[in-house]
Amino acid sequence: MDGRSFEFQSSLHGLTLQAGGYVILDDGQGERFGQVLKVEAVSERAAVHNVPGLASDVLIRLAHGEGIVLDRDQRPFHQAQVRPATDEEAGAWFARQRPHRAALTVGELLLAHGVPANLDAGGFNRHTFMCGQSGSGKTYSLGVVLEQLILKTKLRLVILDPNSDYVHLADSRPALDADTGAAYRDAAAKVQVWGHESDPPLRLRFMDLDPAAQAAILGLDPLADRFEYAALMDLLRHPGERGEIGTGIHELAQSEDPEARALGLRAANLGVLDWSVWSRGQSRSLTDAVLDDSIRALVVDLGSLGTAEEQRLIAQATLSTLWRHRHRREPVLVVIDEAHNVCPREPADAVTRLAANTAALIAAEGRKFGLYLLVSTQRPQKVNEEVLTQCDNLLLMRMNSESDLAYLREVFSFVPQGLIHRATAFDQGQSLAGGKFFPQPGFIRFGRRLSEEGGADIATEWAGSA
Ligand SMILES: Nc1ncnc2c1ncn2[C@@H]1O[C@H](COP(=O)(O)OP(=O)(O)OP(=O)(O)O)[C@@H](O)[C@H]1O
Ligand SMILES: [Mg+2]
Repeated sequence: MDGRSFEFQSSLHGLTLQAGGYVILDDGQGERFGQVLKVEAVSERAAVHNVPGLASDVLIRLAHGEGIVLDRDQRPFHQAQVRPATDEEAGAWFARQRPHRAALTVGELLLAHGVPANLDAGGFNRHTFMCGQSGSGKTYSLGVVLEQLILKTKLRLVILDPNSDYVHLADSRPALDADTGAAYRDAAAKVQVWGHESDPPLRLRFMDLDPAAQAAILGLDPLADRFEYAALMDLLRHPGERGEIGTGIHELAQSEDPEARALGLRAANLGVLDWSVWSRGQSRSLTDAVLDDSIRALVVDLGSLGTAEEQRLIAQATLSTLWRHRHRREPVLVVIDEAHNVCPREPADAVTRLAANTAALIAAEGRKFGLYLLVSTQRPQKVNEEVLTQCDNLLLMRMNSESDLAYLREVFSFVPQGLIHRATAFDQGQSLAGGKFFPQPGFIRFGRRLSEEGGADIATEWAGSA
């Protein structure tokens, strides 16, 4: 009656209709393009007339389904024949939906062979959630999205890279044809990777951290350690007046000031002074790079750092720098792979708690300052809830856990329920896409990367061969 939703039934024998598939409905007066959202087998009683040996009614099994009409013209209709759309018919509909903004071709439609899967670049002014179980292809496919953003848009990227997966983001694959390779290398020329041994190296000034983060890495609680905490705050408020603490944490230990020296001792005992991330004055601080608009994409190579504490601190410093300077209103896509570690729902330490809180602030209010999130995880229920629930775009890859899927159904209610179920049967690289960046929730298959992969899976030569 609404000209949009329809129900159908069909024989289970040779069933050609599947959830997510595209169909043509023909009511004798014209054709409509639509999509199947759900198919299930049902039992129905059917009357039997004059068949010797059979009762007057039998139970038969048939396919029952639901779908929606995707054409703009949505006149009500009563009855129509339904058949799968050809790849050309699906391609024609998607060609008409081509975004006005740049089209990010990330692969092709899973159920319409050869039809490009185009994400609307403009849709990245919303937060995006990507999830799938380990090995489903998140990191690889996220790379495909990042490459397209680099190639087709001017959006700045700041990428928290926990496993050094994107350290070759600027290097095009040798197998690419010459034109594509050159175009990509050109676009990626201003990608910078900051890692432990990069040039410039990934370093941070103690003085560039939030006071809360400074206290957290020294293990200071504002109440339990009130004297030391107050001394730290006082030192930070009046740098130079009570013995020079300059830019670094190492100066604390050498200070003339007994309170500063006590803080330095604390840092030394905690092992904080041994971290490699401290800038000793000579090198640029990561916080400058995070705000440097001439760096088109900044890969923060957390995987190169020696300790989990340093990784947490660098992630926190990156997020809080972006948030503190939000009034610049410079659009940035903040990419967080393994988001359940960077902004978990239940942080296990003080620095991660600060990072998770900042991520939640960016999720809730970042959009109006041009701060957009793209977070990826295998554990949706372990990610900060505010971060997850503020996402308007979804990329769902293979996911077996029923409890995770039930949770996603609840959070991403704009995606038809029947489509989410298919995630249990996805192969690597297959995904459900839905939200502001895709015309209609549906299935896609990610294409090949343009750049070299970084820390790929460990080779399995140890397994031997026959
Ligand atoms: N579309 C693809 N084409 C070719 N190889 C792929 C594709 N997707 C993933 N791979 C390969 O499969 C492996 C696992 O993929 P990936 O690292 O992206 O999984 P993941 O979902 O990020 O897993 P985890 O949650 O453990 O980080 C990688 O070695 C990657 O190179
Ligand atoms: Mg991964």
